[in-house]
Amino acid sequence: TVALNVAAKAAGKLYFGTATDNPELTNTAYVTILNNTAMFGQLTPGNSMKWDAIEPEQNVFDFTGGDQIADLAEQTGKIIRGHNLVWYSQLPSWVTDTTWTAETLTSVIQTHVTTEVSHYAGKIYAWDVINEPFNDDGTFRTDVFYDTLNSTYINIALTAARAADPDAKLYINEYNLEYTGAKIDAMVQLVTDLKASGTPIDGIGIESHYILGDVSASELQTNMEALTALGVEVAITELDVRIDLPATDADLEQQKSDYETVVGVCMAVSGCVGVTIWDYTDYYSWIPATFPGYGAACPWDENLVPKPAYDGIVLGFQS
Ligand code: G3I
Repeated sequence: TVALNVAAKAAGKLYFGTATDNPELTNTAYVTILNNTAMFGQLTPGNSMKWDAIEPEQNVFDFTGGDQIADLAEQTGKIIRGHNLVWYSQLPSWVTDTTWTAETLTSVIQTHVTTEVSHYAGKIYAWDVINEPFNDDGTFRTDVFYDTLNSTYINIALTAARAADPDAKLYINEYNLEYTGAKIDAMVQLVTDLKASGTPIDGIGIESHYILGDVSASELQTNMEALTALGVEVAITELDVRIDLPATDADLEQQKSDYETVVGVCMAVSGCVGVTIWDYTDYYSWIPATFPGYGAACPWDENLVPKPAYDGIVLGFQS
């Protein structure tokens, strides 16, 4: 059967990739599959480029974990999606527990973004500069950044990222953009506003953490087209399809169909550049810890054996 990154490229896409994480890199069976660039042409570090890992104390930067994944990608000829620069979660306490003024927090964001993006300049295809800025009802999420700076923190971070690496694509990444409604409407408005103000924005990441059977091809395609019509690219950045356990054979067939559908929508939209799964094996999936009773969300099972979902991805790229 055909390897997934080969299938993506044959279909005219830039990459098929996966998230990975540093502790997983000691598992040699796992790494053997990960390193196969015919299978994965792109990596996203699941945790080690986040703020708490990179700048655990103010002005103290630690690139050890991020470098490990960047080096692996470089050695195996893979694209990197940098994940992420400004997010409400996985922030060190020095960021969340200080009372900032607009001026001091602006400087904190600029220093963080400039230092991290400069460190990886030339090595990153795209940065998730802003991660998950919206609530599901389309209002901005209230966090330390929004509370202090309103939505201007988004402009501040994007502008700093562009200056630090003019060649990296700058993305905003978000979940629940897979369905029509208030959240995608808010994202379309934000991109419109950023474009109008001349703020750099190149892409929107559609995370795509699905529940089995909940994929709507028409809603996903409508949303991708609404975004690309504004002059940005889109990507599927964190795809998985979780199953209410135990997974039956029928569930695995439905999952195959769901993966095929999502990849097929990316195929139908020329501005969709690639697809990333949120790790490739159920062994390392984030799902069971976060959604008790759910799992089996990835295209490879816990023993690193491909599931029907693998063939669904291939069929999607061949559509
Ligand atoms: O680093 C500590 C370790 O020291 C400690 O012993 C251990 C015990 O729980 O926790 C470790 O931190 C964990 C961290 O991953 C690193 O492994 C956190 O508990 C755990 O909550 C954290 O989960 C990550 C999650 O983001 C946090 O929000 C997942 O691995 C990661 O896959 C997930 O990724 C996010 C994307 O960034 C954004 N979109 C949603 C996606 C899934 O939540």
